[in-house]
Amino acid sequence: MKIYKAKDYADMSRKAANIISAQIIMKPECVLGLATGSTPVGLYKQLVEWYKKGDLDFSAVKTINLDEYKGLSQDNDQSYYYFMHDNLFNHVDINEENVHIPTVSNDHLEDDCKTYNDMLNKVTIDLQLLGIGGNGHIGFNEPGTDFNSKTHYVDLKESTIKDNARLFFNGDEDAVPKQAISMGIQNIMDAKSVVLIACGKNKEDAVKGMIEGPVTPELPASVLQNHKDVTVIIDKAAAALLEKEY
Ligand code: PGA
Repeated sequence: MKIYKAKDYADMSRKAANIISAQIIMKPECVLGLATGSTPVGLYKQLVEWYKKGDLDFSAVKTINLDEYKGLSQDNDQSYYYFMHDNLFNHVDINEENVHIPTVSNDHLEDDCKTYNDMLNKVTIDLQLLGIGGNGHIGFNEPGTDFNSKTHYVDLKESTIKDNARLFFNGDEDAVPKQAISMGIQNIMDAKSVVLIACGKNKEDAVKGMIEGPVTPELPASVLQNHKDVTVIIDKAAAALLEKEY
C-alpha cells in the first residue's frame, strides 16, 4: 500500500483527482470504478473543474459504480444514480451508455445482482475509487462479508444506517433504505488499481485496521493489504491512530 497523508480535505481531494485524471489522460478509454458518499464530493468537483478548463476528456471513459440503495428511484436525490449525475456526469462529456450503476428493482434483487455481475465479468476496472465506512466497509460490503463475494444484496448494518442518516437523509434514520446492492469484495480486488480516500476522526479506527490491523472479514477494507496496487490518501484526523511513519 502507498499511503499519502493530506493536509486537509481539499488537499486529499486534489491528490486523488490527480491520480484519476492521470488515468484518464494515459488511457482515454479507461474503466473507472466510482464511489459515492460525502468523501469523494471534492474530488468530483476538482475533476469537473479540470474538464471545464479543457484538460480532461470523458467521452471514451466507462464508469462502474460500487452500489445502489434498494427502493429509491433514479430521480430521488438520495439515490446514488442521482448523486453521480449531480456531482459528475451532468457536468462532463461522458457518454450515458458508458455509465453503469446497479439497477435495483424492488422484487428481483437476485436478478439485478446477476445482471450487474455479468456486466462486471466482461470488463476489467483500471482504477477503483473507494471510500471507507466507519465500520471498515468498502462499497456496501459490511463486516463479515466473504472476501470471495461478487455482486450481492446486503442488509445494511445499524452503524451504516446511522452514518448515512447523519450525512444525508436529513438525519432521518427511518428514511435510509435498509437494503442495497453492492459489488462484492472479489469484484473490487479484481481492479487493476485501487485509490481509497478517507477523512475525519470518525474514520480513524477503520483506517488503522485497514492499514495496520490483521486481514479479516470483520474489517472488510483490510483485504486491500492483499492487493498489489493500492493508494490510500487520508487527512490527519483519519491518520491519527497509525503507529508507523508513512
Ligand atoms: P462517506 O462514506 O464518504 O459518506 O463517509 C464512505 C463509505 O461509507 O464508504
